Amino acid sequence: RRVAILLSGSGSNMVALLDSMTGDHPARPALVLSNRADAGGLQKAAARGVPTEVVDHRPHGPDRAAFEETLHARLMDYRPDIICLAGFMRVLTEGFVARWQGRMINIHPSLLPRYRGLDTHARALAAGDAEAGCTVHEVTAALDDGPILGQARVPVVDGDTPETLAARVLQMEHRLYPAVLRRFASGDRSPVWLP
Ligand code: GRF
Repeated sequence: RRVAILLSGSGSNMVALLDSMTGDHPARPALVLSNRADAGGLQKAAARGVPTEVVDHRPHGPDRAAFEETLHARLMDYRPDIICLAGFMRVLTEGFVARWQGRMINIHPSLLPRYRGLDTHARALAAGDAEAGCTVHEVTAALDDGPILGQARVPVVDGDTPETLAARVLQMEHRLYPAVLRRFASGDRSPVWLP
């Protein structure tokens, strides 16, 4: 199985995924692609010997479909079987999602179905939640929806800020996403529950 990882930022989840794909793992990294040329994740991927590409969304303006045509064509050059979204900050259209249906997964920093979208940690704190966490799910046309493939919980502690909570959740993301990818790449869609 060949895996393409899409990101927009620092790529710490991407690094966790790359580092996991060794030995008897059923998948190998084929490509790390960013919509932003300045994404820190690109250098981290290159340093690990993984091909990188940039597909900038800005020349396409508001035309998401045109951006996605270019994105799809570039992806196909690397013949991925699985796409992992790892901090990829572009909403994908139904058309693009349909092309990769059942082969594209995403990590989201909340205990879905709670807190789809942005600012998940601030919203969990504002709600007084005792727990927070992260979810890996299959990507469907609806934002941060789709069958859940794994979930990991962390406690919310006194004095937490969105930043301290995000850091605690991110550590779990780095455990959860590789565990889910390993299972998913072997054809097993049963969910992973951590810790
Ligand atoms: C993570 O919190 C992920 O859940 C969210 O974006 C962040 C990406 O962080 N979708 P990184 O680029 O993997 O460090």
